[in-house]
Amino acid sequence: MSVLIPLRALPRLNAILNAASAVLLVAGYFFIRRGKVLAHKTCMLSAFACSACFLASYLYFHFHAGLVRFSGQGPIRPTYFAILISHTILAVVIVPLVLITLTFALRRRFRSHKAIARWTLPLWLYVSITGVIVYWLLFVLYQPIASIPGL
Ligand code: HEM
Repeated sequence: MSVLIPLRALPRLNAILNAASAVLLVAGYFFIRRGKVLAHKTCMLSAFACSACFLASYLYFHFHAGLVRFSGQGPIRPTYFAILISHTILAVVIVPLVLITLTFALRRRFRSHKAIARWTLPLWLYVSITGVIVYWLLFVLYQPIASIPGL
């Protein structure tokens, strides 16, 4: 992958994939509220594809780049770690939630789908949006990617 896409470009790609997931989730919600099931399904499956690509690219990046330390000091530091820790815990929690929500929908068990989706949707949105915020704080605001040795 590093030949096609340089390693240093992956954090931005990851943020774009997270942002795309968030937009698709919001659009999918609006569609189902208007009774447009096919558009809802298309948005949600596309959000799932974006999040799956994000996970693969995220793991690939950290496998090769290692841990990137946050260099911000002062009040932004506890803020950053509060966002990062909540983001990471919920990112683990939403994996089974998303799979169960999708399975119910694809088996046409819509009552169960709707019941669990009311949790899945806001948690997934939180994870996608905080993913973009973490990227921005870590790689744009406090430590431009070009300044990281080896990238
Ligand atoms: C993991 C991805 C998905 C999420 C997060 C999700 C989210 C939701 C949410 C939040 C609702 C309730 C909307 C409301 O408040 O009225 C809903 C309803 C619904 N979803 Fe999904 N959805 C997903 C995937 C799918 C897929 C793949 C289908 C395939 C057809 C689907 C079909 C439906 C239908 C038919 C309803 C209406 C159920 C009813 O009102 O009885 N969803 N979904």
